[in-house]
Amino acid sequence: RRSSVQDLLHSTELDREVLVRGWVRTRRGNKYVQFIAVNDGSGFNSIQVVANAEQFPEEKLKADGVENGAAVQVRGQLVASQGKGQSVEIQASEISVYGKADTETYPLQKKGHSLEFLREIAHLRPRTNTFGAVLRIRHAMAFAVHQYFNDHGFYYVHTPIITGSDAEGAGQMFRVTTLPDQNPPLTEDKTGVDYKQDFFGKQTNLTVSGQLEGEIAAMALGKVYTFGPTFRAENSNTARHLAEFWMIEPEVAFNDLQDNMDLAEDFLRYLVRYALKNCQDDLKFLNEQYDKELLTRLQFVVDNEFQRLNYTEAVEILKTAKQKFEFPVDWGTDLQSEHERYLVEKHFKKPVILTNYPKDIKAFYMKLNDDGKTVRAMDVLFPGIGEIIGGSEREESLEKLTQRMAEMNVPEHDLWWYLELRKYGTAPHSGFGLGFERLILFVTGMANIRDVIPFPRFPKSAEF
Ligand code: 4AD
Ligand code: MG
Repeated sequence: RRSSVQDLLHSTELDREVLVRGWVRTRRGNKYVQFIAVNDGSGFNSIQVVANAEQFPEEKLKADGVENGAAVQVRGQLVASQGKGQSVEIQASEISVYGKADTETYPLQKKGHSLEFLREIAHLRPRTNTFGAVLRIRHAMAFAVHQYFNDHGFYYVHTPIITGSDAEGAGQMFRVTTLPDQNPPLTEDKTGVDYKQDFFGKQTNLTVSGQLEGEIAAMALGKVYTFGPTFRAENSNTARHLAEFWMIEPEVAFNDLQDNMDLAEDFLRYLVRYALKNCQDDLKFLNEQYDKELLTRLQFVVDNEFQRLNYTEAVEILKTAKQKFEFPVDWGTDLQSEHERYLVEKHFKKPVILTNYPKDIKAFYMKLNDDGKTVRAMDVLFPGIGEIIGGSEREESLEKLTQRMAEMNVPEHDLWWYLELRKYGTAPHSGFGLGFERLILFVTGMANIRDVIPFPRFPKSAEF
């Protein structure tokens, strides 16, 4: 029976025959004994396979291809280890190779590789320590997202990826079209619609956010969330932006902005706590390898409340800051990531929730405050990241919403159904969007968003 490497490493049942399959990470040793580290992806650590020279002379291992990168099966006795660094090891009785990896050409050599180089070999980088750790943490965080919402009575709703409306009203969408030679037959079309360019006669795009459809569900199920891919045709040539990213968007009926902030803060602290508890080996490695402050920073977020203040107060702080900014700040301007990071990293030295932004720099659906100038928006700002969450209380008045849409040139005919939510049984409600990759950036301490998603989409990337 086959065991996972992690199960064996934690096993107390010794002196028994075991079987593992995985990939060779290193082979070293001398003419008496060879040590082969085998990793099967089940966790960060590899298991040490001990091969005695009588049965496995080095020349034979070499000839068989038992080298870095090869896929192998090992049979042997699980025994207490004599060596430092591991408590158990396998005394090999049989080693077979499924597939060799030519030592001359295999791109992943024993020496470390730069993250830039690894980005060019996205098909092999999951085999490195770094990407194994990142991918396992990414999985754990996705699982924790569902766990949190399920435990708190939320329903998971699947919102469409192909959509006819622009949820953010920002025009940053990718168009969906059919290939010219795969058009549906024109026989049913009496309207003169050009199928050549459209989705069965309608102009559609890839979604920028599942929020508006999430609101539909919240108006029936009360507490819901979406978790899916979203697409933005914006300049994504930064270390914080992707053209395709995953977003988590809870939406809750009867929640106001205060409730929304409480939810965002509780949710983020839960996720970080979950990572600290369940991803110890991977986090320890990333902490040692890339970012000595990582574990301390994660613990800090778990232990400390976020600073809450409104946009107007933040602008005052920024205007009197000693630091010189590339972009000047004045009331009414959108904050750049240098400003967000100043507030978080230099001024408050903790995560910040900023609220009540000027209406002109925020989306059409946000609830207008009584001052007529600001909206009930909230952004959560994190150290090293800047904006990790954007959300708001939604405008629930039909009259005010139609007025805002007119002011901002958001076409009513695309969103007639959204307006009907305000016409029939409208209620206060709030929600937010957490950028999943920004969360993974924070939790792993990685510096570039292209290194926390298996296949990053950004300008000039379409290899896979
Ligand atoms: O602030 P945004 O644009 O808000 C929305 O889309 C709302 N509909 C959310 C809601 O209220 N339901 O995006 C939300 C979050 C940002 O805070 C950021 O973390 C992430 O999504 N994000 C990106 N992540 C990676 N690449 C990009 N290009 C991103 N754009 C936004
Ligand atoms: Mg935003």
